[in-house]
Amino acid sequence: MSQLSSKHVIGIEHLTVDDIQLILKTAVQFKEIINRPIKKVPTLRDITIANLFFENSTRTRISFELAQKRLSADIINFSSSSSSVKKGETLLDTVNNILSMKVDMIVMRHASPGAAHYLSERIDANIVNAGDGTHEHPTQALLDAYSMQEKIGDLKNKKIAILGDIMHSRVALSNIFCLKKLGAEVTLCGPATLIPKHIERLGVNVSHNLDETLQWCDVANVLRIQLERQNTKYFPSLREYALYFGVNKQRLDKLSKEIIIMHPGPINRGVELSSDVADSEHSIILEQVENGVAVRMAVMYLLANKQQF
Ligand code: CP
Repeated sequence: MSQLSSKHVIGIEHLTVDDIQLILKTAVQFKEIINRPIKKVPTLRDITIANLFFENSTRTRISFELAQKRLSADIINFSSSSSSVKKGETLLDTVNNILSMKVDMIVMRHASPGAAHYLSERIDANIVNAGDGTHEHPTQALLDAYSMQEKIGDLKNKKIAILGDIMHSRVALSNIFCLKKLGAEVTLCGPATLIPKHIERLGVNVSHNLDETLQWCDVANVLRIQLERQNTKYFPSLREYALYFGVNKQRLDKLSKEIIIMHPGPINRGVELSSDVADSEHSIILEQVENGVAVRMAVMYLLANKQQF
């Protein structure tokens, strides 16, 4: 197989196992390319991509832009805070106006779950969802899976823990879909208030005991407490959260084995993850960021349906 089954990457839920494997395999080749002295290929020189960020981002926005530059695409960057959205223009009008300037592909981050899906039913250009509210963040899950595979090989039957604020996390949902499709065992661990009811239906285990979960897993993907999406108090204080659900060196030292620590960023240091773990040899957080460029190159290359680099 050399083509994706869909013209969009809206979520991992709708990708096939073959799609995921193809993206991860293609990313291996792009990682080799971006580590060469000349990091660029001419593959997408006839393609124009618009990066539409309606919500803040550091890693994802820069990673997509760099991936597009490495592929020689023409790019335009749109930030809603300085756009006519502020004058009341709708999402569809904004996107249709941009597409009328002969743009081929849209990369979009939006605060509304379903925003990328909504557009995919109304426009012809390829769409990559760069995060839609609390719904999905597919390229983050793909780069997470890629980074795990680099460290522990095939993810089939591997034990992966996703820790923390599952309720508000698009990274959690995309990771669950991706890891289950790749055959991993997944345990979610956090306070009961931050784990959605009935989530076991997705084929995951749920635990509220961090020490047991850390002892069980091969990899712990620690999630950010998303204070900006929380209108209610889900736990008494950040101090108490760190005490019961913060991953720190003391906890890792008690384990009878070494585990890999991941975090999608940005980190609340001292809350869900202590600095002595985030910056330790257990952590592959910056490798995740590096791999994100190769994975996003693979996604955009495959969507553009080119036959060779
Ligand atoms: N991981 C992630 O999505 O980070 P940003 O919000 O900085 O893009």
